[in-house]
Amino acid sequence: MPSTVIVGAQWGDEGKGKVVDLLAEHADMVVRFQGGNNAGHTIIRDGETFKFHLIPSGILYPDVTSVIGNGVVVDPSVLIEELEGLRRRGIDTAGLRISANAHLIMPYHVMLDTAGEAKLGKLEIGTTKRGIGPCYADKAFRLGIRVQDLLDGKILRKKIAAALEPKQQMLRPFARDPRLDLHAMTEEYLRYGHRLEPHIADTARLCWEGLDSGKQLIFEGAQATMLDLDHGTYPFVTSSNPVAGAACVGAGIGPSDIDEVWGVAKAYATRVGAGPFPTELDDELGARLRELGGEVGTTTGRDRRVGWLDLVALRYAVRLNAMSALAITKLDVLAGTDPIKVAVRYRSSEGAVLNDFPWHQSILHTAEAEYEELPGFEGDIGDCRSESELPKEARDYLRFVEEAAGVPIRLVGVGPGRDQVVWTGESSRQLRAA
Ligand code: IMP
Repeated sequence: MPSTVIVGAQWGDEGKGKVVDLLAEHADMVVRFQGGNNAGHTIIRDGETFKFHLIPSGILYPDVTSVIGNGVVVDPSVLIEELEGLRRRGIDTAGLRISANAHLIMPYHVMLDTAGEAKLGKLEIGTTKRGIGPCYADKAFRLGIRVQDLLDGKILRKKIAAALEPKQQMLRPFARDPRLDLHAMTEEYLRYGHRLEPHIADTARLCWEGLDSGKQLIFEGAQATMLDLDHGTYPFVTSSNPVAGAACVGAGIGPSDIDEVWGVAKAYATRVGAGPFPTELDDELGARLRELGGEVGTTTGRDRRVGWLDLVALRYAVRLNAMSALAITKLDVLAGTDPIKVAVRYRSSEGAVLNDFPWHQSILHTAEAEYEELPGFEGDIGDCRSESELPKEARDYLRFVEEAAGVPIRLVGVGPGRDQVVWTGESSRQLRAA
């Protein structure tokens, strides 16, 4: 397996964690390149459930180096909690490496996120309120505090003081909050620095060393294409770039270091938070799929909005990421739904046919999805391990998606368990040969 970027092809929560976990078994390094603890992924291993927000899924393999790249925004208290949680369960975390250049989420970022959403009122984005946007804003504003600053008390205090000053005005409602005390904050972050010091490293160099010595690297994206700050449904997006191109910036590698890009999409679609979602099922069927798919956010516990698979958005994501393959997750959730619909085009409010994802927000907000209906399939497919064991209608569904997307489906999820997957086409041939 060459160096591979794994990205979400929809609005997030596609099950990237499971795909990364499966591919990580054959990898040497897993590198996260953007986002923060707004992400959340669940991995079920030997009946044990692991939930991660910051630490890459590779941590469960003792021989895989897990890396938090420079493009990630790190809430040190969350990271330390995850490290402690893993330690308590006997998982060795000594190999985790955190980029010295990654930016830190500070208490005022979390407060600004909450205050910002409250101010927007009905126009709120529905953020995870983890301080992600304000942290990336400070990074661009050059007022950010970086992981390396934790190792120098004098610099840390100076930088916090500089960053805090302009926040005082914005955070009037929090003026008396002890979390905004410069001295207490500096001391708290120095303690975090002390705890994290053995993990802090020049992670771009680690990636180069790995790539130059022929190691297998996985670059793990968080969130997803349609939540990309530049290419998603702005402003209803996250504040980083979850597209594959961002793996270069967020890990410190060049485009020619990447061999493959895998996109992960559910067999249907979900979205958390506000923003356009042309295939949304605001009805009983949507509620049923939400129930069957356990569509509740890992990070915020919010119900996810549910809809049909949107091939207009998926084709856009395939091109934008120059995907070489797709992994389709949660196919089992569609069992018993007949017919299965997939959006093949949109129609604008003026009646125009839109085969491509519209670039103008006003058009997207009012466009309606038009569907192709495919026959559904019955029964539990959770025990299927090869394509031929899947019901014919399920195989036809996959072929339809593959042809529309224009890239091969290499992996299909048929249940929550780690082994509940069907490797398809090229991948299954490689597995048989191995
Ligand atoms: P933020 O990333 O917390 O600023 O939230 C911005 C938007 O991205 C909101 O609509 C969130 O619900 C969404 N979002 C952020 N992280 C995730 C994720 O991991 N999965 C799905 N949606 C996410």
